[in-house]
Amino acid sequence: ISPACGSVHPLVRGMVSLPGRPVAARAYACGLGLYELYLNGERVGDEYLTPYYNDYHFWMQYQTYDVTRLLHEGDNVLGAMLGNGWYKGRFGFEANPRHGLFGDNFSFLCELRVTLEDGRELCFGTDRSWRWAPSPVLESSIYDGEVYDARLAIPGWCSDVCEPAGFRPVERAEESYTHLTERLSVPVRITEKLPVPKLIRTPKGENVLDFGQEITGWVEFHCSAPAGTRVYLQYDEILQDDCFYRDNLRSAKAEYTYFSDGSTARVRPHFTFYGFRYVKVEGVSQVRPEDFAGVHIRSDIDPTGSIETADSRVNQLFHNAMWGQFDNFLDIPTDCPQRDERLGWTGDAAIISATACKNLYMPAFFHHFLHNVGEEQQYYKGVVPFFVPAPKAPDEAGAFWLSGNPDGCAIWSDVATMMPWAVYENYGDLSLLREEYPVMKAWVERIRQDDQADGGRGLWLRGRQLGDWLALDREDGDTQNPFGATSLPYTATAFYYYSASLTAKAAKALGYGEDQQEYQGLCETIKAAFLEEYFQADGTLKIPVTQTACVLSLFFGLYPEGKRDVVLEALKERIRARGNHLDTGFCGTPFLCRALSDNGANDVAYTLFFNEDFPSWLYEVNMGATTVWERWNSILPDGSISGTGMNSLNHYAYGSIVDWMYRNLCGLNPVEEAPGFKKAVIRPMPDARLSWAKMKLDSAAGTYRIEWKYVDGQLHGSVTVPFDCQAQLLLPDGTQRQLTAGTYVF
Ligand code: BGC
Repeated sequence: ISPACGSVHPLVRGMVSLPGRPVAARAYACGLGLYELYLNGERVGDEYLTPYYNDYHFWMQYQTYDVTRLLHEGDNVLGAMLGNGWYKGRFGFEANPRHGLFGDNFSFLCELRVTLEDGRELCFGTDRSWRWAPSPVLESSIYDGEVYDARLAIPGWCSDVCEPAGFRPVERAEESYTHLTERLSVPVRITEKLPVPKLIRTPKGENVLDFGQEITGWVEFHCSAPAGTRVYLQYDEILQDDCFYRDNLRSAKAEYTYFSDGSTARVRPHFTFYGFRYVKVEGVSQVRPEDFAGVHIRSDIDPTGSIETADSRVNQLFHNAMWGQFDNFLDIPTDCPQRDERLGWTGDAAIISATACKNLYMPAFFHHFLHNVGEEQQYYKGVVPFFVPAPKAPDEAGAFWLSGNPDGCAIWSDVATMMPWAVYENYGDLSLLREEYPVMKAWVERIRQDDQADGGRGLWLRGRQLGDWLALDREDGDTQNPFGATSLPYTATAFYYYSASLTAKAAKALGYGEDQQEYQGLCETIKAAFLEEYFQADGTLKIPVTQTACVLSLFFGLYPEGKRDVVLEALKERIRARGNHLDTGFCGTPFLCRALSDNGANDVAYTLFFNEDFPSWLYEVNMGATTVWERWNSILPDGSISGTGMNSLNHYAYGSIVDWMYRNLCGLNPVEEAPGFKKAVIRPMPDARLSWAKMKLDSAAGTYRIEWKYVDGQLHGSVTVPFDCQAQLLLPDGTQRQLTAGTYVF
């Protein structure tokens, strides 16, 4: 049904009469843009922002609710509030996010199936008997927030059998729900409410609440102000000069306006979310912090991994990385939760996949995302766009806008191979890999098409490449320019190789022998071309040497036979040249410490890891970060923000260091032949600069624990292998042991 209410937010309601006592009842619902379902005055379910975010041109998801408890014999009132959301609100990318990317009309679809005590089964649906009235929600927008006028609330709108005044007929919706399917989205729920915030009175006289942690969600508050009072909240992630500051949100207004009707109320927004630590409050005569709560929402996936060490800064870094994921796993993996973006940037997701699969239980969440990736990829003929879903608005010429990248881009499009492989390695689910394999293969084939067009040598020379995004190694030293110095075709070809190799491994796991051979063969071709194009026979690079160029070569094994140490030395030299600091971006950073530790330079990995000055992971920690920043220099040493064009304090990409912490620092590694941690290689790589570390992973096969500590310069530790699992233990002194389930002390 559609209320045909234009831009007016609607409430819709319908009656359901039951001629007997219900013993089982389910509601199936979907509403556009966003909906909240109510039954007899109670909100149904505990999810927010339904029906979630996917390309609504391709498919829509309905949610299923058990409503037995809420129904009774006789008349029942079913209702829904509707908001704009991703479907029709202001959303997208570039200077002017648009309205109506997927459609312009509100609509709602619901089916209620009830079993009565006497065994009768009844089915009700949204039909022309439903009625609508204007909602107290006056405006709603993912980026801009919400306006709610409690004076316009209609008491009993979803509970009174007798229809309150103001309701009128609905129409049949023109929206097509034909691609309606059961959900793949993981429920978005309130997972935490933060303790009472600190109230700051700023030099400008503003009342600002500090929640002490950057979160995604909203503020809920107690209001008992006189009728007509306008309470106005603004959200942001940092103070500047001790005052409220929000310029880095760009065009996102991120605000909430509430007009009181004079009654006492617990207030929250319905159809938006914010990324914030600070909230400025206006319109309240006396701001009492205990009246406000920071409400954290996210896709409700369970944490599975934890790491603790002797160093509180390292622990804070782990915490920040974890929160970067909590905050950005909101139905899809987003780049950031606060500015006018919040898009499923595929490169960011690719980079974090391996870390995420240890920190949190990811299969369902990533499966949903990869389903979306597959849909987009089919639409774009093999290309995986910069972000998924890719809102498609027709441009002036009527052509659909391809999120600026018609040929795909290394790392970003490689989410097609990196994410499925991370899920397989960590959880060992062959059925998921089988479903996602076509996405992997289609992406490699799409690169191969470009390669063929350039003579089929095994190089990838096309695409709008972003390369080592946000690296700090530019010759001109411009740290605001996001393009790094590593050669773009070099990076692209290295990832062509990586994607082909992951596809070959997946084919092997799935028993697709022909494909396995095909992609192994392709890997050999790419490697030969890569070495010829970019390396001298002595192992030196023909392109300008950067840290990232060396990291990719080492991590992917792309160096001339026997010349690994030449590349390693070049990397160490580049690090020394930066005063023992990193200068890598999106391509190099996820693999930097792993490439060092795995190739005999564990001490250098620790040096980078323990750096405290810019650029380093702990610099952010020392500057008070509670999540991971987008840029190494998001905030300058004097506390000022380095720029506002593209600068978020909640981007998870560099949190990928946590993968190194699990695999190298603590030592837990999955084994390809027995994925999902049925088998593991346990190889702790301690360093005396850290006196102890311990980790726990609730893997798909059971709980692993690893601890090590230095006592009087001697290394001690213990390892727990879960039931029915096996591990190979490799200690720094060269000791090797095969372990079965149990706890072992060394
Ligand atoms: C996003 C990134 C993204 C990048 C690529 C940014 O605006 O926030 O994280 O990957 O653009 O262009």
